Amino acid sequence: MKIVFFSSQPYDREFFTRFNTLRFELSFQEARLNEETAELADGAEAVCVFVNDKVTEAVMDKLAAKKVQIIALRCAGFNNVDLEAAKARGIKVCRVPAYSPEAVAEHTVAMLLALNRKIHKAYNRVREQNFALNGLLGYNLHGKTVGVIGTGNIGKAFAKIMLGFGCRVLAFDLIANKDLEAAGVEFHPLTVVLKADIISLHCPLNDQTRHLINTETIAMMQKGAVLINTSRGGLIDTNAVIEALKNKQIGALGIDVYEQEEKLFFRDLSEHIIKDDTIQRLMSFPNVLITAHQAFFTEEALSQIAMTTFTSIDQLSQKGNLTNQAALLV
Ligand code: NAI
Repeated sequence: MKIVFFSSQPYDREFFTRFNTLRFELSFQEARLNEETAELADGAEAVCVFVNDKVTEAVMDKLAAKKVQIIALRCAGFNNVDLEAAKARGIKVCRVPAYSPEAVAEHTVAMLLALNRKIHKAYNRVREQNFALNGLLGYNLHGKTVGVIGTGNIGKAFAKIMLGFGCRVLAFDLIANKDLEAAGVEFHPLTVVLKADIISLHCPLNDQTRHLINTETIAMMQKGAVLINTSRGGLIDTNAVIEALKNKQIGALGIDVYEQEEKLFFRDLSEHIIKDDTIQRLMSFPNVLITAHQAFFTEEALSQIAMTTFTSIDQLSQKGNLTNQAALLV
């Protein structure tokens, strides 16, 4: 069976080739999946896509015409796939629901620690032989209140780490998590959780959560709150956050995801002129740390992603159903 990978990077080739024990025919394409590049799915029973491949109804039509039967997302989020359109065309869609929640949770902590101890500034300073400490004053995380929005796999892992730091952890989710409550996490309405010293977003992007962080919700936060988003860029109204950084309502921002990231992330644009003024403005703040959707990027996560994706594709192609039902979207 042939699987065509879109938006593939050298590390995708490395890990998917390493774990290809079922000997699928693999075709790695650098192109993003769209109406034009769908041509590359010729002869494929399955296509494997990533976070910024937009699998719209029109793309789905092209794939259906090519007799593609499975769309395998090699990620957890699936806001970029039109599931209704897939269902209508009998195309199965699967994802990797939980490959390594710790990978993302630990990156979230890394961003928080870098921001609050100003490691990003210290690194550059020392390289310039500037050993002064002025301007690098941080604060202890111990004793601070951390607000976790979304306590699924990643939010749960993050909340547990923060409890270990000696933080008070407040959480908001549609359903309170009993294990976390037993561990000491307090579930509250969003308005209460927004009052935390540090707020970290771990819910999916959907119609309810789009621009969850906006002018109104920012006004509910404490002045100088730290905001971290390793979930999806669309959870934040970026312009509202820029205003809040300018007037110091937000004290520091760490983002691994960005609303317009598909035009930028996963590419080396160092020789290009960036036309996106919003990200340029964000990059100009000394208290903003941006990473380019790398929270998932660990050995363990890439291994798990490759193994789960192959297992799902194999099961869907043979029996049409999955042992890991959480992976099946339609
Ligand atoms: P999950 O599905 O295990 O958990 C999501 C949680 O959010 C659930 O508990 C759900 O009840 C909750 N939720 C849903 N709607 C909500 C709302 N309106 N308000 C509050 N909570 C709500 O997902 P997981 O694995 O924890 O991933 C979370 C997100 O992290 C994914 O949707 C994905 O967008 C993002 N992600 C980012 C990665 C990166 O590399 N930066 C890698 C993997 C995932």
